[in-house]
Amino acid sequence: MSVDLAPLVPYFSDLRGGRPLAALTGAGVSAESGLPTFRGAGGLWEGRRAEDLATAEAFANDPVKVWRFYEWRREKVRAARPNEAHLAFARLEGVLPRMTLITQNVDGLHQAAGSRRPIELHGNIMRDRCRGCGTVTAAAPAPFATLPPRCPLCSELLRPDVVWFGEVLPAGSWHEAETAAEGSAVFLVVGTSSVVAPASSLGLLAARAGAHLFEINPEATPIAPLAEGVFRTSASEVMSAIANALGAR
Ligand code: APR
Repeated sequence: MSVDLAPLVPYFSDLRGGRPLAALTGAGVSAESGLPTFRGAGGLWEGRRAEDLATAEAFANDPVKVWRFYEWRREKVRAARPNEAHLAFARLEGVLPRMTLITQNVDGLHQAAGSRRPIELHGNIMRDRCRGCGTVTAAAPAPFATLPPRCPLCSELLRPDVVWFGEVLPAGSWHEAETAAEGSAVFLVVGTSSVVAPASSLGLLAARAGAHLFEINPEATPIAPLAEGVFRTSASEVMSAIANALGAR
C-alpha cells in the first residue's frame, strides 16, 4: 500500500534547501525489529510494574531483580536489527542539510542503521554506568556471569545507563532536543504514545514555535490534535516513503 505524502510535500523543497527537520522517535519505531513497545498489547509494562523495575528505588531495593529484567531486554536488543524506518532516518541525513534525530529509544538501532548522532534522551541499554564513580562503559557482548555487577574501578554497583522514572534527563541532551524542536521547520513525532514527559512536550514546543507538526503512528496519541497531518500506518512505510520522495538512497 503506497503512502499519500500530500500533507508533507509542500515542505520538501524547504527541507532540501536547508530548512531544519527534527524528529522524535519512540518504541514503535523499533517494534518492527521485534522489540516490544512499553504500553499497549504485549508491551513491557503489561503485567509488570515500572515502579518495581525502572526506578532508582527499585534498584536500591533489589538490584538483582532489576538486572535480570535488563539482561533479558539486552538479549532482545543484541538479536535485533534496524528496520526500514531506522534505515530511512539514516538515509535522510544524507540528503537533508539540517536534520536532528531525537530518540527515547535505548536500543541503539538508530546508530546501527547509520544515523550519525541521534540525541538519546533516555540513555542506552547497551552501556553500563557506575552508581558510584559514574564511569560509563559499553556493555559486554554477553550477559554478566554474576549479578549484580560491580564497577571494576570503585566496586560500587553498575546500573544500565538509562534514565529511570523519577530521574532527570541528561541536561545537555534535553537542551539540544528542545533547541532542535523549537528551531525546526518540520517536526515529526514517530512511534511514540506521547505520554512520557518531558519528551512528550517536544511536539508542543515545536508547534508553538511555528513548526509544521506531523504524527506517524497507527494509533492517535495526545499530540494528534496539534498535528497539521497524521499518518496512521507504520513508521517503516511512512519513513521509507518520505526518504524515497526526497531522493535519499
Ligand atoms: N510504527 C509506528 N508506531 C507504532 C508502531 C509502528 N510499527 N507500532 C506501535 N506503534 C506506536 C503505538 O501505537 C504507540 O503509540 O508506538 C507507540 C509506542 O508507545 P509506548 O509503548 O508508550 O513507547 P514510547 O512512547 O516510546 O514510551 C516512552 O516510556 O516506558 C518509558 O522510557 C520508556 O522511552 C520510553 C517512554
